[in-house]
Amino acid sequence: MLSKLLEKEINDQINYEFWSAQLYLSMSAHFADLGLPGFAHWMYIQYQEETTHAVKFFNYVIERGGKVQVQPIQEVSTVWDSILSVFKETMEHEQKVTTRINHLADTAVAEKDHATQSMLRWFIDEQVEEEANVKAIVDTLKLVKDNGYGIYALDKELATRVFIDNTQTGINA
Ligand code: FEO
Repeated sequence: MLSKLLEKEINDQINYEFWSAQLYLSMSAHFADLGLPGFAHWMYIQYQEETTHAVKFFNYVIERGGKVQVQPIQEVSTVWDSILSVFKETMEHEQKVTTRINHLADTAVAEKDHATQSMLRWFIDEQVEEEANVKAIVDTLKLVKDNGYGIYALDKELATRVFIDNTQTGINA
């Protein structure tokens, strides 16, 4: 059985993962509107991944005999100044997610909940991937600056991203 504190914190994280999904869906719509289908596709996969994260926590709460409280999703931004500003916000957002996951892990340790510690290990590893992936794009965008061909080439590259529900495989990618 989950402690009441962990049940509440994981419920809040479910909401935060769904909020993240909304944010990335909004970024996808923004890129589609700019005529950048590869960037839009990359963000759409990001949206799909966040949904699987929320569902992984959702299933875990139920599996441990807890109650999921579905909460309203807060509004997200819909416009950005530049491509780089979208990815800088993405990077800051993922860093915030990492801090939240680490806090959850601290709570699980304090509550002596070994099962939750084990479940969170997947998310801890996932955040390493998430931050590294976004940082690589931020670095490329800084290099490319406003070069049209560079943006075109990056758009083509991001279009090749494939969605894999790695919450099912247990392997982070
Ligand atoms: Fe669910 Fe991007 O962290």
